[in-house]
Amino acid sequence: MLLRGVLELVYKIKISSLLFMFIVFLPFNIVFAEEVKDSCVKCHADVTPGIIKQWQESKHSAMDVGCFTCHEAKKNDPSGYEHNGFKITAVPSPLTCAQCHSKEVEEYAKSKHVWAAFMGPLKPYYVKAKEMQLDPLKQETAKKLDPERMAKTTLSPLFPDSGILEKIGFLDDPQYHHNNVNLGCIQCHGSFIVAEGDGKLKGWPNAGVGRINPDGSMGSCTACHPRHKFSVAEARKPEVCGQCHLGPDHPQHEIYEESKHGNIYAASGEEWNWTAPVDEWRPEDAAAPTCAVCHMSGFGGVVASTHNVSERLYWELQPKKSVPQWKGPDEVDIVTERIPDRKKAEKGRAQMKKICYQCHSRQWADNYFIEFDKVVSDYNMVWEYTDNLLAEAYEEGLIDKSNPLDETPEIMHYLVWHHDGRRWRMGASMMGPDWTHWNGAVDAIMNKLGTMINDIEMRRRIKALESENDKK
Ligand code: HEC
Ligand code: HEC
Ligand code: HEC
Ligand code: HEC
Ligand code: HEC
Ligand code: HEC
Ligand code: HEC
Ligand code: HEC
Repeated sequence: MLLRGVLELVYKIKISSLLFMFIVFLPFNIVFAEEVKDSCVKCHADVTPGIIKQWQESKHSAMDVGCFTCHEAKKNDPSGYEHNGFKITAVPSPLTCAQCHSKEVEEYAKSKHVWAAFMGPLKPYYVKAKEMQLDPLKQETAKKLDPERMAKTTLSPLFPDSGILEKIGFLDDPQYHHNNVNLGCIQCHGSFIVAEGDGKLKGWPNAGVGRINPDGSMGSCTACHPRHKFSVAEARKPEVCGQCHLGPDHPQHEIYEESKHGNIYAASGEEWNWTAPVDEWRPEDAAAPTCAVCHMSGFGGVVASTHNVSERLYWELQPKKSVPQWKGPDEVDIVTERIPDRKKAEKGRAQMKKICYQCHSRQWADNYFIEFDKVVSDYNMVWEYTDNLLAEAYEEGLIDKSNPLDETPEIMHYLVWHHDGRRWRMGASMMGPDWTHWNGAVDAIMNKLGTMINDIEMRRRIKALESENDKK
């Protein structure tokens, strides 16, 4: 790569003397590169043998992409420091990879993945920085506003919404660290890594998809390409996505496991061809789709392989009310603006269907989506009912707004969309019938909405009795 760059430069400026010098010094350059590589590898073979083994198994080592190629600190990278005679960084960012993989980096930057920290736990920080007209990617801004602290004390169902931590006196107790945020939220969404000089890092280790790096870039490629193998095969397997896409509020991995696709993967996945090059992976290589096949791969060449996981979706299934896909971060400030874009959504749906048609008839796949869209519409109706009911309870003075998540109707209202209603919609989107029905519709309607209605009716009766009592 470096060699090609230099050659291009020489060609562009057509200075024959430079060419002469380059040719004369080439052997020295190669010798220097070999020495660097040998010294990192030799010493680290004792210090971190696991890393050397994985790197040796990678395509990078076969293609001579060595330790220093990725770990060399860029000029203004605040995480850079002297290390046995080399200026290195411990956190190579997507900017590092972009030298050789610019397509993947550009696509990733258009996806919601790269924005996951700012749209999730670091949202209060992002909004505050923008309000103060500070650049949220800058180290100085983070040092001033402390994004981690803000995530702990201004955005969580635990606080301020439920108020429980305040009630029990833990909110400002210096003994209580709120560290579920460090080893919970931001492990999936991404942290803000602050470089404190001399190679010291705060907010690390972290490989969340929307991590903010010391060099001012966003994202972490390691989230799906475990280092130091950086393999395509591993990224194509559902377990890699399942690290984050699971649990009560987005159980995509569990849904996949119970789907026919997932159980074919469990039964015969070991025999599939996982290493086919990106534009050649096709149904002959894998009998059933994995997460990557439907959301990323150019499976069978019918659609282009993409690192933008938002590209093939129609709905937003995670918000309170489902709407067509929002405009992406390349069009609007996606943290603060949510603008549904039907055209984009329709394009995404058409792409997704092309993948299904590789293995299914058109009628089979088209009918599936007709049924799925009806599920989303049913959910939306139940949501509107639930939301109106809560508004009535406030108006009648049956509950109060001081904490939006502490009284039974409020908690049920939250669970209807955030847990059960998501499962209901997501189960239907990916062929998980148990999640659609028992863990989804039944839990949302009978359990949560039912409890909410009973609780509100009881409050109404108590209020009526109290006012009768007052009259007496
Ligand atoms: C003489 C031995 C030696 C050489 C040469 C060497 N390292 Fe290291 N490296 C170490 C030791 C020791 C550590 C500390 C390991 C630990 O913290 O357990 C380390 C740590 C690291 C870390 C982790 C830093 C952190 O903050 O966690 C990185 C990244 C690294 N080395 C990369 C390199 C690269 C790239 C090269 C070649 C340019 C290199 N090393 C050359 C011995 C060496
Ligand atoms: C293709 C780029 C690439 C190459 C080549 C590479 N690294 Fe890394 N390395 C990374 C990335 C990315 C991380 C993840 C750091 C982070 O972002 O959190 C990392 C992390 C590390 C860490 C610290 C994290 C840990 O798990 O302890 C060490 C130490 C390290 N690399 C050493 C090496 C050594 C030694 C080599 C050569 C054998 C090497 N790396 C080659 C990209 C690379
Ligand atoms: C100096 C150039 C260079 C840099 C920097 C670099 N790579 Fe690579 N990468 C390559 C080459 C060359 C290949 C092999 C391509 C091939 O065989 O088709 C490769 C292959 C890959 C593959 C495919 C492996 C497979 O199993 O087929 C992945 C994934 C990958 N790189 C990720 C990364 C990530 C992530 C980073 C940054 C942390 C990075 N690379 C940095 C040059 C680089
Ligand atoms: C296990 C990994 C994981 C943890 C832990 C986690 N999240 Fe998430 N979060 C996700 C995933 C995956 C999604 C995407 C769900 C979807 O789109 O289907 C998500 C979605 C979100 C969204 C919605 C974003 C949007 O586009 O509407 C917000 C906000 C959010 N999370 C905040 C948080 C906060 C705050 C915490 C901690 C209090 C947290 N998350 C903990 C993985 C996680
Ligand atoms: C390290 C955690 C992590 C990993 C690994 C991960 N994701 Fe995500 N993903 C997230 C988070 C967090 C979000 C929510 C982003 C948001 O809405 O702010 C998300 C969102 C998404 C979305 C919704 C995008 C949208 O526009 O609504 C899709 C689709 C997705 N991921 C697919 C995948 C696939 C496929 C894989 C594996 C190849 C994967 N993810 C791996 C954390 C992860
Ligand atoms: C959400 C998970 C995910 C993340 C994050 C991710 N990748 Fe990938 N990557 C994949 C999958 C899945 C494939 C295989 C795609 C296919 O089958 O078409 C892949 C393939 C690749 C390839 C092989 C391309 C080729 O033509 O051989 C490279 C290179 C690569 N990724 C680099 C990166 C870089 C650089 C980043 C960070 C900017 C990154 N990836 C982040 C999942 C991911
Ligand atoms: C058979 C293809 C297929 C497979 C396999 C698949 N998905 Fe999906 N996925 C879909 C479809 C279809 C949708 C809904 C798209 C739409 O909105 O029209 C979807 C939606 C999603 C969403 C968006 C939810 C939201 O909040 O809007 C995420 C996240 C997701 N899938 C992650 C995954 C993960 C992780 C896996 C693997 C564990 C996976 N998918 C496996 C087809 C698939
Ligand atoms: C790589 C091939 C492949 C792709 C791509 C694929 N499927 Fe499948 N699908 C299968 C196989 C194989 C079965 C099992 C058929 C059987 O029951 O014998 C299956 C089963 C199903 C089932 C039946 C589930 C059940 O419980 O019986 C549905 C519904 C389905 N697929 C929908 C889709 C949709 C929608 C898409 C696109 C988003 C899709 N599939 C993409 C191979 C694929």
